[in-house]
Amino acid sequence: MAPFLLALAAFLAVARVDAFTTRSWDESFSLAAEAVGQMTQDEKIGLLRGVGQFGSRCVGNITPPSRSFNLSSTTLTIPPICLQDGPAGIRLVNNVTGFPTGINTASTFSRRLMRARGAALAEEFKGKGVHVFLGPAMDIMRNPKGGRNWESFGPDPYLTGESAYETIIGVQSEGVQACAKHFLANNQEHWRYGASSNVDERTIYELYGYPFFRSIEADVTSVMCAYNRFNKTSSCHNGPLLDILREQGFRGYTVSDWGATHDSAADNANAGLDMEQPGDWILIGGAVFNGLKSAVNNNSVKPERLDEMVERVLAGLLHLGQEKDYPAINFNAQKPDGSGDLNLNVNVRSDAHTALVREIGAASAVLLKNDRSNATRGLPIDIKKFKTIAVVGQDAKLPKLNCNDLGECNEGTMSVGWGSGTNSLDFLVPPIDAITSWVGSSATITSSLSNDLDAGASAASGKDLCLVFANAMSGELGFYSNVYGNLGDRNDLDLWWKGGSLIERVASVCKNTVAVVHSVGPVALGWTTNANISAVIYAGAPGEQTGPSLVDVLSGTVNPSGRLPFTIAYDEADYGTEIVYNSGNGQPSIDYTEGLFIDYRYMDKQGIKPQFEFGYGLSYTTFNYSSLSIKNSGSSVEVSFTVKNSGSVDGTEIPQLYLGFPAGAGEPPSVLRGFDDIFLKAGESKTVTMTISQRELSTWDVPSHSWVKPSGTFTVSVGASIKDIRLTGTF
Ligand SMILES: *[C@@H]1O[C@H](CO)[C@@H](O)[C@H](O)[C@H]1NC(C)=O
Ligand SMILES: *[C@@H]1O[C@H](CO)[C@@H](O)[C@H](O)[C@H]1NC(C)=O
Ligand SMILES: *[C@@H]1O[C@H](CO)[C@@H](O)[C@H](O)[C@H]1NC(C)=O
Ligand SMILES: *[C@@H]1O[C@H](CO)[C@@H](O)[C@H](O)[C@H]1NC(C)=O
Ligand SMILES: *[C@@H]1O[C@H](CO)[C@@H](O)[C@H](O)[C@H]1NC(C)=O
Ligand SMILES: *[C@@H]1O[C@H](CO)[C@@H](O)[C@H](O)[C@H]1NC(C)=O
Ligand SMILES: *[C@@H]1O[C@H](CO)[C@@H](O)[C@H](O)[C@H]1NC(C)=O
Repeated sequence: MAPFLLALAAFLAVARVDAFTTRSWDESFSLAAEAVGQMTQDEKIGLLRGVGQFGSRCVGNITPPSRSFNLSSTTLTIPPICLQDGPAGIRLVNNVTGFPTGINTASTFSRRLMRARGAALAEEFKGKGVHVFLGPAMDIMRNPKGGRNWESFGPDPYLTGESAYETIIGVQSEGVQACAKHFLANNQEHWRYGASSNVDERTIYELYGYPFFRSIEADVTSVMCAYNRFNKTSSCHNGPLLDILREQGFRGYTVSDWGATHDSAADNANAGLDMEQPGDWILIGGAVFNGLKSAVNNNSVKPERLDEMVERVLAGLLHLGQEKDYPAINFNAQKPDGSGDLNLNVNVRSDAHTALVREIGAASAVLLKNDRSNATRGLPIDIKKFKTIAVVGQDAKLPKLNCNDLGECNEGTMSVGWGSGTNSLDFLVPPIDAITSWVGSSATITSSLSNDLDAGASAASGKDLCLVFANAMSGELGFYSNVYGNLGDRNDLDLWWKGGSLIERVASVCKNTVAVVHSVGPVALGWTTNANISAVIYAGAPGEQTGPSLVDVLSGTVNPSGRLPFTIAYDEADYGTEIVYNSGNGQPSIDYTEGLFIDYRYMDKQGIKPQFEFGYGLSYTTFNYSSLSIKNSGSSVEVSFTVKNSGSVDGTEIPQLYLGFPAGAGEPPSVLRGFDDIFLKAGESKTVTMTISQRELSTWDVPSHSWVKPSGTFTVSVGASIKDIRLTGTF
C-alpha cells in the first residue's frame, strides 16, 4: 500500500465528526426537487437502479450523476450511495467489530444500550464510507425456528418496536441512514423467495407492521421490501402494502431486498418501489428497472412518479447531510479478505466499541437457574474457592473466523448466526480464553473442547466446578450453505451437536455443573432441573466479546439483568405456529390464522405453562415493588411505582408493565406495554414511571381503519416477568 494511503487510513480511523447538519424533510425535499429539475432522464434513473451485485465496492450502490448541481442555497454533488449489510456489524470487510445480535439487544430490555449499539454500529459504517446501514431487521419471531430471528428482536411487537426505534435513532444520530427491514412478514427461510404470507389487517397493524411504524417515528430514511409475497403479490410491487407506509407518515424511499423484484418496471414503480437493488438478476429475481426508461418513455410510469422516486432517494441523503464531508468508500466488499488496492483496511474498531459489546453481552445474558443452597454452588463464582475446574464443549472454543457468511464457523462458540445478517467476525474472544485468564493460577483447568460425550465426562468427573457449553444456530437461506442439515430455519429446537446430551453427561459426574447455552432463540432445555446443575445461563448470540462478557456474569462483576425476549416452552407445539418446510405444489401460501396469538400471547390464551416465560431472568439480588399509582388522563395513562433493591448486591432490575384489555377487545390476556432498566445499589429505591400512549391503549379497528381505544376496564400488571407480577391495578 502506498504511504499516502496508510496516512489516509490512519486519518480516517481517528476522524470523528461530532455534529451533523440535519435538514428537515421539507427542506430536503425542496432541495431534492430543485436538483431533479436539472437532471436528465438518465441521471434520474441512475439513482434508482443498483449497479449490480459485483458492480461496486458495496453490496449495493447506484450511479450518481457525474456533475454537480447549482442549487439556490448550495452546490450539490451526489455521492455513489453505498448500501451495506447488516444488522450486527459490517459484513465482508475486516478491521470491524462483531456486535451483539438484535435478539441479544432486545434481551437487555435497555433503551440506553439499544441506542448506544446503533450509534456505535453507525460510527463503523460511516468510517468505512457506507451511507446506508441495511438494518435494523424487525421481523417478528412468528416461529422460534425461523432462520433469521436472531437478526431481529423477538416475537413481541412492543419490544421489537422500541428496539427498532432506539437502534434507528442511534444509527441516524451519527449521520448514517438506517433501513427498516423486511416489509413485510418475512418470517421463514424455506420458500422465502415466493411463499406468500397472508395476514389480516388487524394483525398487520398490531403485530408485523407495528415495528415499522415505530421506525417511521424514529425518522427512518428507507424501508426494504421483502423477498416473500404478501397476500399473494410480490412485496416489492404490492401497492396496498407499500401504501401503509405512506399512510403512517413515511417520507423516505423504499428499496428492494436483493433480487426481490419481479415482473415489469411499471408494476414495481407504480406500486411504490423507489430503488431497486442490486440492479441485476440474482438467481430468483431482479433487474426490473432495466425497463424503467422505456416504461417512462411510453408513459406506463408517469414522469411525476419518476421524479418522486428520485426526490425520495435524494431527500434521505440530504436529510442526514450526507452530501458533504462524508468519508469516501474505503473498502471493497468484493474482496472480504481485505486484499487489493481498493481495500484500505481502515480500522474502525475502538476500545469504546469493544467495551460496549462486552457490556451488552453481559447485560443480555439471562440467568435461568441459580442454586445458591450453599456458598460453593451456583453463581456468582468465587473462583478462589475452587481447585479443579472442567471446561467442556466445542462452544467454548474459538471458531474458524471470517466464514460466517457461509455458516462454516459453527464448530466453535456461536456468537452470531450465518448469512447476510452476520458481521465479518474477524475478531473474537472465546469463553475458554476468558475463563483461562480469569482462573489464572488459582486452579487447574481440564478442558474437552469438543462435544464428544465420553471425553466431556472424563474431563468433568470429580471436578469442583464444571462449566459446560452447548449451542444452536440458524441463518439465511439463499447462496448460503445447508449448515449441519439446517437450511436457514432450524429443523427443531434441539441443541446442536448433541449439546443437551453433553450437558447431562457432565452433570452425571459433576455435582456443581454450570451450563451455558449460546443460541439464536428458544431451545429445548429439558435438563435444567437436574440437581447437579447448579446454574444455567442463556447467553444468546452475544457478539465478539462473548468470553469476557460471560466471565463478567459468572464472576459477579456484572449482576445479570438480561431477560428472555421470547418464551422458552416445554414443547415445540406450545408455540402454535409452524415453519412450512415442504410445500406440496409450488410456492406455499401461508395463512397467518393465529392472528395476534404467537409466543406468550398464544400460550396464555391456551393456558399453556411455559418452562421459562417471556421477560424472565434471575439476579444476584432481590427487588421489591410497591406503591403503584395509575393516572388516567384520558389520552394516555401514567403508571408509577417504586422498586427497591432489597438484597445485598448492587444490580439492575427490569420492571415490566403488562396491559390487560377490557374483555371482548379480542386481545391476548396480557401484552407488554412498558419496560425500563433501573440500576439500584443494595438497599436503594427509585420511583419508576411509564406512560402508555393512546395508540398503545388501542386496538386496530378494521371497519373504521383506525386505532380505537376499547371501552371498559383495563388491568395494569407490573412485575419482573409476565408471570412474576408484583403489583396490579385497573383503570
Ligand atoms: C455551477 O456554477 C459554477 C460557478 O458558480 C459553474 O462553474 C458551473 O458550471 C455551474 N454548474 C452547473 C451544472 O450549472
Ligand atoms: C486490519 O486488517 C488487516 C487485514 O486483515 C490486518 O492485517 C490488520 O492487522 C488489521 N488491523 C488491525 C488494526 O486490526
Ligand atoms: C391482506 O389480506 C387480508 C385478508 O384478506 C386483508 O385483511 C388485508 O387488509 C390485506 N392487506 C393488504 C395490505 O393487502
Ligand atoms: C412500455 O414499455 C415497457 C417496457 O419496454 C413494456 O413492457 C410495456 O408493454 C410498454 N407499455 C405500453 C403501453 O406500450
Ligand atoms: C450427581 O453427581 C454425582 C457424582 O458426582 C452422581 O453420583 C449423581 O448420580 C449425579 N446426579 C445426577 C442427578 O446426575
Ligand atoms: C455445597 O455443595 C457442594 C456441591 O456443589 C457439596 O459438595 C458441599 O458438601 C456442600 N456444602 C455444604 C456445607 O452443604
Ligand atoms: C415488599 O413490599 C411489600 C409492599 O408492597 C411489603 O409488604 C413487603 O414487606 C416488602 N418486602 C420486602 C422483603 O421488603
